[in-house]
Amino acid sequence: MKINVLYTPAIADELYFTGKTTVVIDVLRASTTIIAALQNGAREIIPVGTVEFAVKVSGGMFGGQTLLGGERNTKKIEGFALGNSPFEYTEDIVAGKSIIFYTTNGTKAIVKAKFSSDLFICSFTNISAVAKHLALLDKDCEIQCAGRSNNFSMEDTVCAGKLISEIEKIKGDITLSDSARASIALSKSFGRSIHKMLSETEHGKLLIENGYNDDLKFCSKINSSGIIPYYVGNVLKSLPDAGLSFQNEKENTAN
Ligand code: MLT
Repeated sequence: MKINVLYTPAIADELYFTGKTTVVIDVLRASTTIIAALQNGAREIIPVGTVEFAVKVSGGMFGGQTLLGGERNTKKIEGFALGNSPFEYTEDIVAGKSIIFYTTNGTKAIVKAKFSSDLFICSFTNISAVAKHLALLDKDCEIQCAGRSNNFSMEDTVCAGKLISEIEKIKGDITLSDSARASIALSKSFGRSIHKMLSETEHGKLLIENGYNDDLKFCSKINSSGIIPYYVGNVLKSLPDAGLSFQNEKENTAN
């Protein structure tokens, strides 16, 4: 098993991901919010790359049971029901709903990796669950950090490093690219207090300025969820419900 980390979405184009196993990380906040929404019973999340497409999709598809969610410059978008704070995605609001989701960096990174054969979403909140699943799959893996405006972000890279360390603890014999090794080094230097690290990042500071300090606390809760969002049929579902592809993986693993 070989693991590589892409620090920003600018490094690879869509076709790079064809047939690969990919994990997308956007700790602040898209990954964390997607995990929270599925944890609270959302039927599925439909990640989109533009606001215009979000509005178009919300028109007639998905049986009318849709909510528009996401952000621009950290704030809720006009006409959207929900922003990008995980606290907004409570059970009473999201249970049974299809959520069309647009965020500045996170959903674009997910959409870019859509040709992956397996695509998972990771954050600090579900890191052990993702690590265990990847170790079980035992396939080469690309970790795509969503970053910020095609630039490096500390929080996604530290999360990538922690994820790799967790996989290493389970499997031992993994091959790491230079970027994967550097991610582990960063997670060792900066990952002792996740909340402190988040509050010192560029995006963390912006969120605090905009009144989202509690979101940072939420995003720093390691392993508060066992949900693994999995991309299947253009939507993200919680892995056990992800359908045929997941079943095939399980059968292959068992044989
Ligand atoms: C993004 O996708 O850029 C983030 O989720 C932004 C945010 O924190 O709302």
